[in-house]
Amino acid sequence: MKVTIVGAGAVGASCADYIASKNFASEVVILDIKEGVAEGKAMDLMQCASLNGFDTRIIGSTNDYSKTANSDIAVITSGIPRKPGMTREELIGINAGIVKSVAASLLEHSPEVILIVVSNPMDTMTYLVHKTTGLPKNRIIGMGGALDSARFKYRLAEALGAPISDVDGMVIGGHSDTGMVPLTRHATRNSIKVSEFLSEDRMQQVAEDTKVGGATLTKLLGTSAWYAPGAAVSGLVQAIACDQKKIFPCSTLLEGEYGLNDLCIGVPVVLGRKGIERIVAIELNEAEKAKMQESAAGVSKTNGLLDV
Ligand code: 2OP
Repeated sequence: MKVTIVGAGAVGASCADYIASKNFASEVVILDIKEGVAEGKAMDLMQCASLNGFDTRIIGSTNDYSKTANSDIAVITSGIPRKPGMTREELIGINAGIVKSVAASLLEHSPEVILIVVSNPMDTMTYLVHKTTGLPKNRIIGMGGALDSARFKYRLAEALGAPISDVDGMVIGGHSDTGMVPLTRHATRNSIKVSEFLSEDRMQQVAEDTKVGGATLTKLLGTSAWYAPGAAVSGLVQAIACDQKKIFPCSTLLEGEYGLNDLCIGVPVVLGRKGIERIVAIELNEAEKAKMQESAAGVSKTNGLLDV
């Protein structure tokens, strides 16, 4: 199993770290355009191998795509992250050109690769990869919902005063401050609906805190977060590499599912060796459907800024 990560920034490097530490991939290649950065981070991570007990080989390269040849999975983190006060949508101008050329270069050397898109605005970048590569939809996966759901579970556990392992919940919709749809009605604490424990107001607060999860961190850190994004990506990579058939909310091309068409947006999918093996349709009530429609309208508006 060979995994390529394009972008040796904080998200790319933490993603490589988590993948290697889980020891399921034989090789991880990290690429970056900045001279020496990918090589340096790869070497630093390789020096963790004996300490953290993994055998994954990590190789860094300054933009040499031949090193990525025959990758099974590639993660695109390239582009600029947002700064405090910026929305993810504002990054489209710079990131669209980068993501388009990175996807093309990856496919040149790995025609069978499964692509995971992380660069923001993520749903629109995922759609751009569809439009420009023409790959089957199972091989293009946008990472957003896995991260947003992790942030939702963190906030739920905080509100419940419960351990995170007791909590389950999912965020669907667009990966943006206004587009996320935390499914509070479906969230559970050890199979009991959280509404048994939390007031409607408290659940609303949890949902709002979840939606600005990335922005809250950007304000604190001065740049976009990396540990949880890296961990979320590594979860998707592992599910594919190990054919786990796990359900994650991911951004995928919708063709009528959830009443939506011609856009990529977060919905639950089954991830296995073929990538997205199935889109899972869950029953939404009228309020949830309306939120999903509104979220989709936002994503489509951003997609309209693309030159495709
Ligand atoms: C975040 O929400 C990187 O968009 C990502 O932190």
